[in-house]
Amino acid sequence: MTTSRKPLMAGNWKMHHTHLEAIQVVQKLSYRLDDRDYKAVEVAVCPAFTALRSVQTTLDSDRIPIALGAQNCHWESHGAYTGEVSPAMLAKLNVRYVIVGHSERRELFGETDDAVARKVRAVLGAQMSPILCVGETLEERDLGSTDEKVAGQTRAALAGLKADDVARCVIAYEPIWAIGTGKTATPGDANATIGVVRNTIRELAGSVADETRILYGGSVKPGNTAELMAMPEIDGGLVGGASLDPDDFARVIRYGR
Ligand code: 13P
Repeated sequence: MTTSRKPLMAGNWKMHHTHLEAIQVVQKLSYRLDDRDYKAVEVAVCPAFTALRSVQTTLDSDRIPIALGAQNCHWESHGAYTGEVSPAMLAKLNVRYVIVGHSERRELFGETDDAVARKVRAVLGAQMSPILCVGETLEERDLGSTDEKVAGQTRAALAGLKADDVARCVIAYEPIWAIGTGKTATPGDANATIGVVRNTIRELAGSVADETRILYGGSVKPGNTAELMAMPEIDGGLVGGASLDPDDFARVIRYGR
């Protein structure tokens, strides 16, 4: 990657770790990282909603320079939306990143491109950064429509935003067939698809595309991080399973330096 884009390694804990477990994991992770790691790589963890406050206070009281992320939010700031959490509520917890449009939310919970676009705007409006997820199914890949799919999702989420706002977004390219399967896109394929996303951002917002961090996600592990991060377009990882264990995640972060 180019030097102007600081790599981001974000752990998506999905529906794992109680608040007590989350505190332990983030403390153990911090024991394994040092200033050189934080200088070279921005580190974030995205716990479940129930653990956000506990992780926030742990990070604050121990002065751990790990950013806090959430995994989802609603687009309204408040109201009669039983079960939902608003961007304003997350911002008050010092949340810096909110994952938006993860494929599990799109596929399992029916989240549409329209909902994703609203969430992106709401997260930006609350002074946080969305980590917008895009990616193709295996079927789409086999049909040769990967580029069209990721470009379409990127346009649907970002079209109409000011360049300044686009500059605050992070994108995660996660091929759906590589999530939790142990299969990873080859570094070359991931690099090429991320290049397509970057070109789409360039069409929408101009030169901020060169500053936008675009992560790869899908079975990122200590053993494949270095080769992925050696690719010029890949600016970090959105890490699921390997981020649950502090040893594994620390190794991913170190290989990502
Ligand atoms: P895995 O790293 O477990 O494949 O999950 C990837 C992912 O979905 C991160 O958001």
